[in-house]
Amino acid sequence: MRADFFMADMRKIGVLTSGGDSPGMNACIRAVVRTAVHHKVSVAGVLRGYEGLIKGDFQPLDSRSVGNIIHRGGTVLKTARSEAFRTEEGRRAAHDQYLAEELDGLVVIGGNGTFTGAKLFSEEFGVPVMGCPGTIDNDLYGTDLTIGFDTAVNTAISSIDRIRDTADSHDRLFFVEVMGRHSGCIALHAAIGCGAGTMLVPEVETSIEQLADILNRGAKRKKLFNVVIVAEGNPNGNAYQIAERVKERFTHSEIKVAVIGHLQRGGAPTALDRILASRLGYEAVEALLSGRTGEMVGLSNNEVVFVPFGTAIGRTKPLNPNLLRLSEVLSI
Ligand code: F6P
Repeated sequence: MRADFFMADMRKIGVLTSGGDSPGMNACIRAVVRTAVHHKVSVAGVLRGYEGLIKGDFQPLDSRSVGNIIHRGGTVLKTARSEAFRTEEGRRAAHDQYLAEELDGLVVIGGNGTFTGAKLFSEEFGVPVMGCPGTIDNDLYGTDLTIGFDTAVNTAISSIDRIRDTADSHDRLFFVEVMGRHSGCIALHAAIGCGAGTMLVPEVETSIEQLADILNRGAKRKKLFNVVIVAEGNPNGNAYQIAERVKERFTHSEIKVAVIGHLQRGGAPTALDRILASRLGYEAVEALLSGRTGEMVGLSNNEVVFVPFGTAIGRTKPLNPNLLRLSEVLSI
């Protein structure tokens, strides 16, 4: 979508990170700031996402202030999930601060909640906003990748590799829970990458009985599964609850549980995430300055794409069926 303003009209933009942090957010902030500076546009960093916008918590950013952060996890701008921004009153307060700071546009880096807020804010007040997908969940429709996903999958895989060592030595079966509030994307990629026996994801209906069947059939064929990956958002419950129910139906090995949790959200971003974040941050500013608004900048088949916020958050991103099939075939 294009609005009626052009690069020459923009003198100052804001950038914020919101929602759960993800590795690569700093690389994205750096790209946003340096691209803006390249075009002689000043940048205000907004601290703690929409909370900072409501409170007028701004920090001037220049090329030097975003030096030495490309390799760091977390977000130097800090982040929050703002309840107040969900209300019209909160967004009005944010708009007052936006005007007082003399901003001409915003780049928001985050996931579903961030883009939901961005959509409302840009529609209600006519504020030009572009978004960069920053979430480890990789659950935004229209982009192949989100910033932080690759790092999270790598962290999950290296943790599961360690768990497999001990699982194998003791002939134990581990239920390993990975993150993904509504998405099995981390689980699927981790399962393929570490050769896990099977997995439970929200996108594929698998009952505890079916799971126990798979494990028991494996045991009959002398295949002892070491690891079952459980996506946080699967409908059967968390890894502890699932393990308890499976114990009643599967007795061939001792069952243990490991929850990788927030380890997946931290740490240095991988090369892929740094490069993705740099590309998307750059493109978001170029787009904003050329008059685009109300869109997420994503990648599809390694090409930059612009996806309306409503589509990115409104449509469910399916798991790649070829990867699902692959994981099934390779786990026999
Ligand atoms: O959206 C990213 C994510 O890490 C989800 O996978 C997870 O459910 C959620 O955030 C946890 O968020 P928090 O720890 O901030 O409450």
